[in-house]
Order: sequence, then C-alpha cells, then structure tokens
Amino acid sequence: MNTRKTLCVNGKGHLEIGGYDCVELAQRFGTPLYVFDEDYIRGMMRVYRDVIANDYGDGLVLYASKAFSCEAMYAIAKQEGIGADVVSGGELYTAMKAGFPAKKICMHGNNKLPQEISYALDCGVGLLVLDNPSEADLLEEECEKRGIRQDVLLRVNPGVEAHTHKFVQTATPDSKFGFSVGSGAAEEMTRHILAKKHLRLRGFHCHIGSQIFEKQSFCIAAEKCLAFMANMKKTLGFEADTLNLGGGFGIWYTDEDEKFTLDGYAAYLKALIGAVKEGCAKYGLNAPRLMIEPGRSVVGEAGVTLYTVGAIKEIPGIRKYVAVDGGMFDNPRFCLYGSKYTAILANRAAEQPTELVSVAGKCCESGDLIGVNMNLPRAERGDILAVLSTGAYNYSMASNYNRNLIPPAVLVKDGKADYIVKPQSYEDLVRNDVIPERLK
Ligand SMILES: Cc1ncc(COP(=O)(O)O)c(C=O)c1O
Repeated sequence: MNTRKTLCVNGKGHLEIGGYDCVELAQRFGTPLYVFDEDYIRGMMRVYRDVIANDYGDGLVLYASKAFSCEAMYAIAKQEGIGADVVSGGELYTAMKAGFPAKKICMHGNNKLPQEISYALDCGVGLLVLDNPSEADLLEEECEKRGIRQDVLLRVNPGVEAHTHKFVQTATPDSKFGFSVGSGAAEEMTRHILAKKHLRLRGFHCHIGSQIFEKQSFCIAAEKCLAFMANMKKTLGFEADTLNLGGGFGIWYTDEDEKFTLDGYAAYLKALIGAVKEGCAKYGLNAPRLMIEPGRSVVGEAGVTLYTVGAIKEIPGIRKYVAVDGGMFDNPRFCLYGSKYTAILANRAAEQPTELVSVAGKCCESGDLIGVNMNLPRAERGDILAVLSTGAYNYSMASNYNRNLIPPAVLVKDGKADYIVKPQSYEDLVRNDVIPERLK
C-alpha cells in the first residue's frame, strides 16, 4: 500500500485518511463516498508554487480543475495563491461561485461555445487558450463589440509522444488539440492571431499527455516550444512572454507506477525548469512567464473512494466478482482506459491480501468494473472497500447512469470531515424531467 502521514492503517487495523477512520467515515456519511485529504492537496499545490517561485521566478501554477471541480477546490487553490485552468462554462461558473479571481484563470477548450467565450469575457478571465481559427475570429468580434483587448495563448502541438496510455495522449501529430509546430500550422495560426486588433497574443501552450513519468518528454516538449518561440521572433518579429507547459505529471495507482514524494515532484518540476532555462539561453530568449497545469498529481492521490461490499460471485476456475455499491457511474476510468487501481478492505486494512478478484460495480454493463485482478483479503458482504488514488477524473467523470446517485464528497483534515459535495437525492434525478401534456 502507498502510505503517508495522512493515509495509514490505525491502531484498530482500519484505514485512516486525514486523521479520520474510514470505517467511521462510511458509517457517518454512507457509501459510496469520495474522500479527499486536504493536507495532500495543499502540499502538492505548495510544492509546485514554491518551486516555480524559488527556482524560476515569474510564473503561475494553474490547477487543472477538470481533474476535480467543485467550489471547495477553487477555494483551496485561491488560499494557496495559485491559478486555475477551466475548460467549460460550467467549470468557470463553479470557480466564480467560489470567488476565485478571474484574472488567474486560463480557459481552454478545443471547441469553446460562443456563449462560453462571451461568459469568459464577462467574467474577465486572464487568458483564453485558442485552439482553432474560427474561435479567434469569434473572440475578436466579441472583444471589438466590448472595446477590450483580451490576452490569449495559442495551443501548439510540439509533436512529442509521451509514453502513456494512447487515449490520454493529446500531442501526437493526430490530435484534435493544438496546431502542429512541425507542419507549419502553428506559425500560420500565430499570424492569424497577430492580425487581430483586439487579441493580445502572449505566448504558447502545450500539453503533451497525462500520467507521464518520463521527465524527458516534458523537457523535449519545452525545448521544442522554445525553438518555435525563437522562430516566431525571427520570422514574425513576435516575442512571446508566456509559456504554458500544461499538466500531465504521473501519480501512483498501483505498485507498477513510480511513487513520488513531494520532493520527487519538486525534482520533476526543477528538471522542467532547467530545460526552459537552457532553451532560453540556447535560443537567446528572455525567460517567459512560466505556467504549468497539474491536475491529476494535485488531487489524484488525495482521494479515496469508499464502497460497501455486497454480492460476491465465484465462477469456478474463471473469476471471482466482488460487487460494490458503486461502479462506472462514480469511476468510469476502468471502462474508458482499462485503468488500474489498488483496493484494500478499510475495516481489515492490516490483513494481507489472499486472493485476486474483480471488483464489479452495480450497473447494467458487463464492463462495469473498478478493476480486475485486484489483490484483496477474502472479502465479505458488509466490508468497506477503499479504492486508492481516486481523487482525479472520478467525480469529474461521474454520471447518473442507470439513475444511480453520484456519491457525495467529503474533505478530511486533522480528524475532521466536511461535505464539499452534498449527496444527491432521487428528487434531484427527476428535477429536470418533464412529461409533455400529450403523454399524460
Ligand atoms: C490542457 C490541459 N492542461 C492540463 C491537464 C491536466 O493534466 P493532468 O491532470 O494529467 O495533470 C490536461 C488534462 O488532460 C489538459 O488537457
């Protein structure tokens, strides 16, 4: 197991997170339940923030809120003095509701809707990352109407292939994201934006993928972006002052993954900073304002999902299914990517695993699994199953499939737990349903 001060087995042999016994959490809040360790989240935000401040200078960490977006997350990011990346009107609205400073928001999206663009301008977001020519046209028109000039970045694709699962790669030559540096598309789009009177191009953005452990891929991507910046300076006389290198730092899900401590993440970022400094020196560029957008690494390992074990079905010689009261509606990542997780029995956390089982959800889908070949002690109905590292892209990808309720989320710190997302009710499920008159 991946333990730390705020995630450990306590004297009762129960899993404990943020000083709170997981069995007591399950009793108090019910299951399924998303649990988030506040100290872990803050620790990660601080390490990135401080390394940029101390080792680089001008820069901003943007929490990639797609990983887990709710008002409390923006409140924490605000307290820690970092920025946020949003990718939809809904994420932006949530940030605004939490009182997050709009100037520290960077808005993404490969197909931002016209209403999302005007909402972003209404809010006064600091940066919009442009990802297609027509949205540059739309934004220009909207800014002209308002008599303003908006800071923007251009998303480029440096063509670096990060070694991770193919579905979460975003910067291979075949990608719906960004403009290829190699093909000349990025230069063409730079010209397109520079011709707009109401857009102020500040620089470039790239994001090479997710769950990446290979430091070298980030460093190569940084170098390619800086080479592109130098090229734009030479050919177009445009000197970018901002470079956003996206997110993607990997986290521990199982013992197949590397386990980074806070110092490990600091070293990761320092390597990236080293590459940026070297690239600037090599190409004779002034150091740009440096941005990064970590999501998964900020909240992933902070989260644990608690379930109650229900039906157990053994198919002799084939497989044993341990079914829980959640599933793909609270964690679709196994269905989407075949993602691997580590599970333990929170009420018998000190027991050694004795069997390999598949943990199944309760949805009407054969593929509705949390994981296959998960190593567990012999589970029984009523046990509390904890799945680790579920803080990122679980709640944010949850659905009401089969009209199951999306579980609530609690934030734990020093033995205290508070809702940050309240439980849904059946009434919530039908709130927007309408039966047209002719069906009555
Ligand atoms: C543009 C952009 N920035 C940041 C992120 C966050 O990446 P991660 O959660 O892997 O750190 C993503 C994730 O897909 C992204 O697309």
